[in-house]
Amino acid sequence: MPSSFAQLARSSECHARTGRLATLHGHIETPVFMPVGTQATVKAMTPEDLKQIGAQIILGNTYHLYIRPGHELIRELGGLHRFMHWDRPILTDSGGFQIFSLNELASITEDGASFRSHLDGTKLFLSPEDAVAVQEALGSDIMMALDTCIPYPATRAEAARATALTNRWARRCRAAQTDTGQLLFGIVQGGLYPDLRLAALAELAETGFDGYALGGLSVGEPKEEMLAMLAACGHRMPADHARYLMGVGTPEDLVEGVMHGMDMFDCVMPTRNARNGMLFTSQGKLVIKNACFQKDAGPLDPLCTCYTCKNFSRAYLRHLFQSHEILASQLNSIHNLHYYNNLMAQMREAIRQDRFLAFRDEFYRLRGGQKP
Ligand code: GUN
Ligand code: ZN
Repeated sequence: MPSSFAQLARSSECHARTGRLATLHGHIETPVFMPVGTQATVKAMTPEDLKQIGAQIILGNTYHLYIRPGHELIRELGGLHRFMHWDRPILTDSGGFQIFSLNELASITEDGASFRSHLDGTKLFLSPEDAVAVQEALGSDIMMALDTCIPYPATRAEAARATALTNRWARRCRAAQTDTGQLLFGIVQGGLYPDLRLAALAELAETGFDGYALGGLSVGEPKEEMLAMLAACGHRMPADHARYLMGVGTPEDLVEGVMHGMDMFDCVMPTRNARNGMLFTSQGKLVIKNACFQKDAGPLDPLCTCYTCKNFSRAYLRHLFQSHEILASQLNSIHNLHYYNNLMAQMREAIRQDRFLAFRDEFYRLRGGQKP
């Protein structure tokens, strides 16, 4: 089967690369950031807003959509794309991570995960085969294999056991897939044990997936540990397939992830922080409620070309935030997602021109920050 991913350019100084991923709803240029749309909506953003900031692909969650409104309903209404009026690619996470992060009482057997709905307590069960069937009903472009989450910290024995189960589930997901043309990615677990991760990766590659993800990072471990795991694994993931770093992260994490050869990222940070008044700018973070912005007529980020920065002052954005106006969430989300998307576009361009490390130096210099 031909790979859905083609590498287009590669840095001569590090593992950064650009590529193109083919899906049922068109191509994605990588490295790419995927805004998070857990409940079939990227909070505070219309699909037109998302297109305006240049979003190429968004993320949805199997767990949430399975519980409400239900994958069968979404299938009856024409699939997730039609349901939410988004005609570009969608990646759905499998539910593994959310089951464990939202359900203290979730329990795992060889067969699958038992848990209670976080909405009404109903008893539910999801097997690897169910996770694929639900994602096929949703009609996402990229499905994720059902995995188990390894809490931090975990002993080597705990990590090894959960990783082995994740790999057995991944094989079952591959076997359960039908002929829909949707892509299926495998998830590398292994906790903070690089040898477990590399062994898991080899097993998943043996089964053969359309892409490979690093999971179980950014779960409370120190930043250096995450970066060490990235450095150990990123560039060792199959080069002829897309590499996805799940649930990460800050702008700095994205730059480091790309340097280590990763292609895809998702995180709630730009949208969640936007709603909390925390904005990303070329000079670093900005807290819009601060009194210093009360009479500030300037734009949020003088280097930004988004709708928010082109049309509104810091003083106005502060006023909206202080007044708990809905528009604050909308304008802030537009800016933060534009910032993330633009950062990825700048990295793609730097890789094409083979000046990625110079870009990275300038990125940290502008923010007055230390390189990790
Ligand atoms: N999102 C962030 N981390 C993870 C992970 O380890 N597994 C899954 N399925 N989703 C994630
Ligand atoms: Zn802006």
